[in-house]
Amino acid sequence: MTQRNAFAAVCYLCLFVAGCTSGRKATITKEPPSLKALYKNDFGIGTALNTEQIEEKDPKAAELIARQFNMATPENIMKEEIIHPAWDTYNFDLADKMVEYCKKNDIKVNAHTLIWHSQMPAFARRIQSVDSFRTFFTNHIKTVAGRYDGKVYSWDVVNEALNEDGTMRKSVFLQKLGDDFVTDAFRIAQEAAPHTQLYYNDYNNEQPAKRAGCIALIKKIQAAGVRIDGVGIQGHWHLGKIPLKDIEESIVQYSALGLKVMFTELDIEVLNRNFSGADVSQTMQGGSSNNPYVNGLPDSVQQKLASDYEALFRLFLKYKNNVSRVTLWGVHDGQSWLNGWPVRGRTNYPLLFDRNYLPKPAFYAVAALKK
Ligand code: G3I
Repeated sequence: MTQRNAFAAVCYLCLFVAGCTSGRKATITKEPPSLKALYKNDFGIGTALNTEQIEEKDPKAAELIARQFNMATPENIMKEEIIHPAWDTYNFDLADKMVEYCKKNDIKVNAHTLIWHSQMPAFARRIQSVDSFRTFFTNHIKTVAGRYDGKVYSWDVVNEALNEDGTMRKSVFLQKLGDDFVTDAFRIAQEAAPHTQLYYNDYNNEQPAKRAGCIALIKKIQAAGVRIDGVGIQGHWHLGKIPLKDIEESIVQYSALGLKVMFTELDIEVLNRNFSGADVSQTMQGGSSNNPYVNGLPDSVQQKLASDYEALFRLFLKYKNNVSRVTLWGVHDGQSWLNGWPVRGRTNYPLLFDRNYLPKPAFYAVAALKK
């Protein structure tokens, strides 16, 4: 029996004994271990919160969040289209609620994200003049980062500015503002939010070509004398195909630039997909034939998922002096964006907790590494 299976067996046994002996007053705890407690001397354990969770409309999730996580990222509500829907209109209600909720639960907020080409407000997409676009860009960063300085722990200042080959993505920001827009964004953010950690965040930036582009981008920011504190590797990976060597090399190379490394949106896709990464504009054909696990995940796949998570966290622990945070992209499988992308309406199983908010074998594999 592996260490992981032995640990899971002990946990299940505790649940069983608790059930058998409860007689309403058994003292054996039914609670699974807490990841944030187990990993407290290693790195932060984060999750992404959706609107319902931020509004505290999901009591089961609330219990799990408070017990398991010490960092949280808003999955959507701090993105441009929601927080800044019109030129002079900002909507801070949900973001304020998130800050308040996290403060109450002793959770650090990893704010996401100031500048991203996706989920932009319609008014910003319509701006023609370069001057007006620059004003929008500057006002947005100043206003939003400024408001939450000292209230959030970090910002993903720029998200997904790179192509897979490491060149700059031809986003509206690049087209309107030129190559220096990333450095400019960090410069404005450092003035507006001097007490906030500032990060660059992307997917597939552990891959060699994109990593090289990412390193060039970071060096450019640093050469301009502008502060950048860390780099986020999103970590949207696929079952059985975790690029462990590339991840390790990336931790080493990004750390050599003096940056903290974070895994900011971790999930492991168990369904078929014919491309990698997390470009939300990419879609894939497919119906029920592409949705094989509607009635549950076979044990063999659960075990593979557990092995992948175990290998990843083993690597993160090896580099715990460089890795400052690991954030799962969602609290439980039922809320994952991978149920709706790149094919709508699939039943996916990418996280550590299942649709009933219960820990999966992958959870116990991650927990067992700290026993
Ligand atoms: O809010 C509307 C709601 O009013 C409407 O009824 C519903 C109908 O579909 O859509 C809702 O908006 C959806 C939103 O999530 C909130 O649930 C959007 O359609 C949907 O596109 C959006 O997806 C988000 C995606 O980013 C969009 O870009 C995912 O939840 C979110 O997990 C995902 O997160 C991104 C990171 O920010 C950056 N890295 C990749 C990652 C995964 O794509």
